[in-house]
Amino acid sequence: MQDISGKVAFITGGASGVGFGQARVFSAAGARIVIADIRQDHIDQALAWFRERNAPVHAIRLDITDRVACARAADEAERVFGPVQLLFNTAGVSIFGPLEKSTYADYDWMMGVNFGGVVNGIQTFVPRMIAHGQGGHIVNTASMSAFIAGGPAGIYSASKFAVRGLSEALRVELAKYDIGVSVLCPANVNTNIAESVMTRPPQYDESGYRVDGEVIASLKTLYAAGMDPVELAQHVLTAVRSNELYIIPYPEVRERLQNHFATVLAAVPSADSDPEGVAKRQAAMAKWVQERQAQFNAR
Ligand SMILES: NC(=O)c1ccc[n+]([C@@H]2O[C@H](COP(=O)([O-])OP(=O)(O)OC[C@H]3O[C@@H](n4cnc5c(N)ncnc54)[C@H](O)[C@@H]3O)[C@@H](O)[C@H]2O)c1
Repeated sequence: MQDISGKVAFITGGASGVGFGQARVFSAAGARIVIADIRQDHIDQALAWFRERNAPVHAIRLDITDRVACARAADEAERVFGPVQLLFNTAGVSIFGPLEKSTYADYDWMMGVNFGGVVNGIQTFVPRMIAHGQGGHIVNTASMSAFIAGGPAGIYSASKFAVRGLSEALRVELAKYDIGVSVLCPANVNTNIAESVMTRPPQYDESGYRVDGEVIASLKTLYAAGMDPVELAQHVLTAVRSNELYIIPYPEVRERLQNHFATVLAAVPSADSDPEGVAKRQAAMAKWVQERQAQFNAR
């Protein structure tokens, strides 16, 4: 999407960190911004920033795991600004700890927000974007953890792998509607994510991880060295304009990714190690795809 001016952008987690950076940069590019966030204090701060600059903005208090509320928020955004062409599924949470100590509540909360929130954003807005027929762009925020999984970030990584997988598939599916899809994979960003336990709902209270003031303070020192969210969002703007799939503006991850994919490829035998098996499987797949495609097209 080349021309951002006048477009309506709906940004989950838009009141802080990565999402607030996206809100500021896409506002400067001429978009009208809808911020959807669970934290009222973040919303108040973000709104104050926009009002000082007289930039078009609307804020909605939203828990993205609440599907009914997501539909209401989409209705509200359309009432205020009209159809949404830019969707940023950005809101996310993280806590870290040993996988063997994890509780179901740790899984349910993190998967629910990080992956379920993206699913809800897509389910809410994609049918509306297809219906309005104006095209658009979706940016799903994953993480470097969508490629490389570290032990203490096991659940977080699983949620972000899922976001990446869904984004890659969605990009193929939505191209015919002129809707682009990008997946943002930051390494370290200077945000408030160390505080994300504050939004953990009481039904997910039982955690296997230690999260207290000392842990939060130590995480804050780490994120303080991260990329500025506005700088990150400038990369997002460039990627949206040129419809790039991956947004990974961190040179320091190149070598880790190279090592990772070298390990993956090392597990794959050479093409000539099983020619008969290859031919049989490929022929079966091609036949199945062709038959299915005919069925899909007939619907
Ligand atoms: N900060 C990093 O280093 C980093 C690295 C990689 C990926 N990310 C990803 O960036 C995204 C944004 O995180 P951030 O770092 O800007 O953190 P942040 O805490 O500064 O901002 C996230 C915002 O999302 C909101 N939010 C949390 N749960 C929500 C819910 N259920 N419904 C609606 N809003 C909710 C929070 O209130 C907050 O305002 C996340 O998906 C995170 O996983 C961050």
